[in-house]
Amino acid sequence: MMGEATARVPIVELRDVTVLLGGRKGWLRKSVPPVRAVGGVSLSVQQGDILGLVGESGCGKTTLGRTLLGLQRETAGDIRLDGAPVGKLPPKAARRRRNDIHYVHQDAGAALDPWWSIGRTLDEGLRIQGGTAVARRRARVDEILDAVGLDPTTRRRYPHELSGGQLRRVALARILLLRPRFVILDEPTSGLDMSVQATVLNLLLDLRQRFGLTYLFISHDLSVVKRFCDRVAIMYLGRIVELASAADIFAEPRHPYTRALLAAVPRLEGNTRKVEPIEGEPPSAARLPPGCVFSGRCPHAVAECREREPELQAEDGHAVACWRWRDTLEERPAAPPLTGASNEREYAASLAK
Ligand SMILES: Nc1ncnc2c1ncn2[C@@H]1O[C@H](COP(=O)(O)OP(=O)(O)OP(=O)(O)O)[C@@H](O)[C@H]1O
Ligand SMILES: [Mg+2]
Repeated sequence: MMGEATARVPIVELRDVTVLLGGRKGWLRKSVPPVRAVGGVSLSVQQGDILGLVGESGCGKTTLGRTLLGLQRETAGDIRLDGAPVGKLPPKAARRRRNDIHYVHQDAGAALDPWWSIGRTLDEGLRIQGGTAVARRRARVDEILDAVGLDPTTRRRYPHELSGGQLRRVALARILLLRPRFVILDEPTSGLDMSVQATVLNLLLDLRQRFGLTYLFISHDLSVVKRFCDRVAIMYLGRIVELASAADIFAEPRHPYTRALLAAVPRLEGNTRKVEPIEGEPPSAARLPPGCVFSGRCPHAVAECREREPELQAEDGHAVACWRWRDTLEERPAAPPLTGASNEREYAASLAK
């Protein structure tokens, strides 16, 4: 997929995007140093691809998504949608382009009004767009409910009457009514059991095909990312530290952080369960170390790593931001994540459907 894609204009492209947050605190608006939530991120997503964005809590994933949506303004760098830098377009034209981008909130239930029936919530999205008669809106809601695998009677139900999996489907239906091209999925399968996860992932693949969608897939779950994504970006303290095809990331993780993330996934070695949590303090964007952002927790860090920040550099389409990745490659590659044989089979079977 990547080879043929290189000649095309990416649907979404970030060039050296930095986002500083905060700067003022409390009702007195006291001045505090801003936090660098996203620091010089460059990446692109081709039409139809699924890019996974992985990293620990607080590394800037949601901020990156919000910046793409235009809810947060980038401090530096530029965002291109279909090749056009949106920051330089007149506000109306920029808004029109951004209408192609939609966001599925991590907490699908919380994003719905508990007092409104599902039918009313879905209809409201269409009504706001205007220009469609009641009967046509109704037909369109039915069509989309069917596309996400929900019964038409769901329109009479309320959010508290639906399961986690059904709520995710409603969240998807809501944005599909708005005809998106690019969808940011923030942890779309968290909190779901294995079989429901698999059906939601299948549904996402089906919708991508049917509606020509492109996904940015934000997730903590490496085993899901491995199965679902074409490419994967590993993020740490606002920086992309590794970016490659999903196959390459899992076959040859180059950044010590990626290897640490993989080792932190519970796995079986023989009959022993193994988990190796990442050493050191969890990251805080308020206290950025000098040099490489991972140097404070990296077992391979040398003086240079604490002084100079490495740039993301690609070799054979596999990019890594680390001074020492070559010297540390012989480290034992991480074993495949533990998910249990029956679940693996269940997963594979349902994805193959
Ligand atoms: N409004 C704000 N003002 C100041 N700092 C903020 C603000 N919003 C977020 N941050 C900080 O920016 C960093 C990135 O936050 P973000 O929510 O993007 O992380 P995340 O990767 O989505 O985390 P999670 O996996 O927990 O959802 C964090 O350090 C967070 O504390
Ligand atoms: Mg988040």
